[in-house]
Amino acid sequence: MKILLLNGPNLQLLGRREPGIYGHTTLADIEQEVISLGAELNCSVTAFQSNCEGELVSRIGNAPLDGFDGIILNAGAYTHTSIALRDAISGAALPAVEVHLSNVASREEFRHHSYIAPVCAGVIAGFGKDSYLLALRALVSRLNHINKWQ
Ligand code: DQA
Repeated sequence: MKILLLNGPNLQLLGRREPGIYGHTTLADIEQEVISLGAELNCSVTAFQSNCEGELVSRIGNAPLDGFDGIILNAGAYTHTSIALRDAISGAALPAVEVHLSNVASREEFRHHSYIAPVCAGVIAGFGKDSYLLALRALVSRLNHINKWQ
């Protein structure tokens, strides 16, 4: 099983960026933990971060041809603005999980709306780096379930 882990704008700054909200763990550490858990769960995880909306759109659009089975996405602020990312996910037609380190529901009002959530299998927010690990477990479980009935 192949999983694409995507991180959007400003997430390359994790560890230094508002640690009171996002914690002290770097993106490289998070990616490594997700890759290690993936190995335990029998799947290979490919990680990619970009500050550019179009690059994320392209990665999602190519995901089925690149052989990915599912997507984990922290779109950062694009979560709250990007119809293009939403269309990319629904177009790719792969199960996707939206992830946030912080509990966006308890923050500013503009973070309460996600364009992406309605086209995802589910959303995990508020557990820091564990949000990513929980997302991987949920996605793998979903994919195993789908495959069982195919
Ligand atoms: C975030 C929440 C977003 O609102 C914010 O713009 C981010 C990070 C999170 O992981 O908590 O960049 O996606």
